[in-house]
Amino acid sequence: MIKPVRKAVLPVAGLGTRSLPATKVMPKEMLTVVDKPIVQFAVEEAQAAGIEEFIFVTSRGKNVLEDHFDYHGELYDNLRKRGKSGELAAARTAELATGTFCSVRQAEPLGLGHAIWCARMIIGQEPFAVMLPDELFLCRTPLLKQMLDAYKRLGGNLIAVREVPREMSARYGMVDTNGDDGAIASIRGLVEKPSPAESPSTLSIVGRYVLQPEVLHALDRWEAGRGGEIQLTDAVAKLVGKQPVHGMRFEGRRFDCGIKAEYVAANVAYALARDELSDDVRALVTDLLDTGEAVTPAPLAAAVGT
Ligand code: G1P
Repeated sequence: MIKPVRKAVLPVAGLGTRSLPATKVMPKEMLTVVDKPIVQFAVEEAQAAGIEEFIFVTSRGKNVLEDHFDYHGELYDNLRKRGKSGELAAARTAELATGTFCSVRQAEPLGLGHAIWCARMIIGQEPFAVMLPDELFLCRTPLLKQMLDAYKRLGGNLIAVREVPREMSARYGMVDTNGDDGAIASIRGLVEKPSPAESPSTLSIVGRYVLQPEVLHALDRWEAGRGGEIQLTDAVAKLVGKQPVHGMRFEGRRFDCGIKAEYVAANVAYALARDELSDDVRALVTDLLDTGEAVTPAPLAAAVGT
């Protein structure tokens, strides 16, 4: 029997060094794309897929994330009194019902596999989704929904994958396949960030997984892998041969918000996807591109008159 997936784990403990200075004190997951923190996109994607419980794996300085998804009576009252119903509705899009989300701490940054292991008690004996919220997916059908639809047929473990140029293999987990119908690939091996020469294919792992609880046993021994970190990729590799492991190509566009250019592109793409913004944003971006105006800002020292 294929057990339903009700829980999602969102590892949000990272320091966000790729996005400094924005992330000096603000969690990287709270950076906004248009008007929403990026973590909210992952939560909404999960809700659209029917996920009922959210587990955030956090660290020091991330409490604001929980506040963001909490009931905020003072703000709601204020908006209500002033008749700001649109703003109230916007604020409440970020609310998760009491008792449906919690956080566990990852005390030390020992890797993605370790972060997931930290949530083991709350995951229990159920299949679960893992969502890396830095990655946004602009899809007609939300990516996790695409995956859970496929999971209902396949069971086992399912990882979202996409083709990348071979020279980029050292940035990703890469999979080895033995059977591929163009959408679903049967996985017989996974390697974390191999060199282009070592990579078994050009199919990379992206930040959405549906996993069986047995993967947590594979993480129990805290075996360090690539970069000295406890890797989720290595734990999934240990399931091969014992449980089905599939890769799923998906419809849609991926943005890695940890890469500044992709983060900027995500803002443009998500604005263009919004009815009330698309015309204005299209006109402004087109004007910028057409006029080719390259405005070089004055150095900060000159700006502050020192
Ligand atoms: C993690 C995973 C890697 C995967 C990637 C997707 O790496 O370990 O297998 O390909 O996410 O973004 P990270 O980007 O955290 O180094």
